Amino acid sequence: PSSARRGDDGALVLGGVGVAALAAEHGTPAYLLDERDFRDRARAYRTAFEDAFAAVGAGVDVYYAGKALLTVAVARWAHEEGLRVDTASGGELAIALRAGVPGADLGLHGNNKSDAELAAALDAGVGRVIVDSLTEIERVADLAAARGVVAPVMVRVTTGVHAGGHEYISTAHEDQKFGLSVNAGPDGGDSPAVAALLRVLERPSLRLLGVHSHIGSQILDGAGFVEAARTVLRLRAHLALRTGVLVEEVDLGGGYGIAYLPGEETLDPRAVAGDIAAAVAHACDELGTGLPRISIEPGRAIVGPAGVTLYTVGTVKPVVVTDGGQGDDAAFTRLYVSVDGGMSDNIRPALYGARYHAELVGRASDAEPVRARVVGKHCESGDIVVHDVELPGDIRAGDLLAVPATGAYGRSMASNYNQLTRPPVVAVGDGASRVLVRRETVEDLLALDLG
Ligand code: LLP
Repeated sequence: PSSARRGDDGALVLGGVGVAALAAEHGTPAYLLDERDFRDRARAYRTAFEDAFAAVGAGVDVYYAGKALLTVAVARWAHEEGLRVDTASGGELAIALRAGVPGADLGLHGNNKSDAELAAALDAGVGRVIVDSLTEIERVADLAAARGVVAPVMVRVTTGVHAGGHEYISTAHEDQKFGLSVNAGPDGGDSPAVAALLRVLERPSLRLLGVHSHIGSQILDGAGFVEAARTVLRLRAHLALRTGVLVEEVDLGGGYGIAYLPGEETLDPRAVAGDIAAAVAHACDELGTGLPRISIEPGRAIVGPAGVTLYTVGTVKPVVVTDGGQGDDAAFTRLYVSVDGGMSDNIRPALYGARYHAELVGRASDAEPVRARVVGKHCESGDIVVHDVELPGDIRAGDLLAVPATGAYGRSMASNYNQLTRPPVVAVGDGASRVLVRRETVEDLLALDLG
């Protein structure tokens, strides 16, 4: 986070609070969230896209993708910084509403929304429901008609653009569950995307707001967004020729990548916004259509860098690897540093092979750095927090370890594996800390178990 610095004793200070004090007050593991950093990134994304599109004459809405991390305070921060909130379930919707975000500033996503979720969204007057299948179009239309309202919808399309860090988070190729393809099938005829758009136009209880495309996540090259934008704009022009309806909005989804390791670069919102705005303006010019209003849905890029997970070191075990390990021929020693959390608070290394960095943060150390691996306390060997990192050789039980860039998809994907209790989310800033979501207790776990 932008406010992190080292104090005189070598200890990390985050949001003006020392990590030792944070650990003493809140315990570990804990998700620390730098409020200033979150707000700065939210504003940076909004202004970068607003400025770039104002220069070509189009308006922009930035939705914070709540799946990355949503708490009542986080939703409020995003909204106070001028962002809307994108939700992907009834639970996320409820949190955003609890935060006081007006329904009109909310979107609802999902490939398998329940009737209850759709009804809650319509009752809250959400600004848009992003529909993901032909059957969902009928369901939303029926629910809206029964309520006597007109539901604003966007149709999620797949553009065939391959982008993103890992197959599981790449979403625009055809052989996966999201969206409706812009490509016609082998027998020709309308593409699923066109068929869906036409169907929305036929239902009087639906208002076709626009077309939505999300190509993937942790994307570090703007070219995919540009290519997807062109494809979506061609689809929009095609629909206008067919029906006379030029949809007013185009959403290009989220996916903006961040740095996880020292030396890596976070995607620059100004650069990518400029590239996308230029491509949109150029494509609309060529197609002879007016510019749409653009929306985007960044999650990771706003909350990821703002989060640090704080752990306490427990068992430290040197392991002599004589069988060459992974790809190494010579024997070597790796220091296995166990912490008081693991794959239940951060599943990303196990699920995507994600790489993180770790730092000793409670004190300074002059000890020679050694090759280390930070592991959790769960009962499987894939329970790795940081694969490969140099840590001071004198690291020992009781030390505090920080893993940066864990604000996105850490707490939001946390589990109770091995009946561990999920860590709290603690906001730091202006020399103070505040619990946003409290730590679970064993009593919480027992309360759910009816025996
Ligand atoms: N909009 C839609 C429709 C999405 O599906 C997603 C992410 C986003 C926006 C936000 O993407 P972001 O800006 O955060 O990249 N759990 C995975 C990431 C899954 C992303 C799913 N959809 C991970 O930990 O890497």
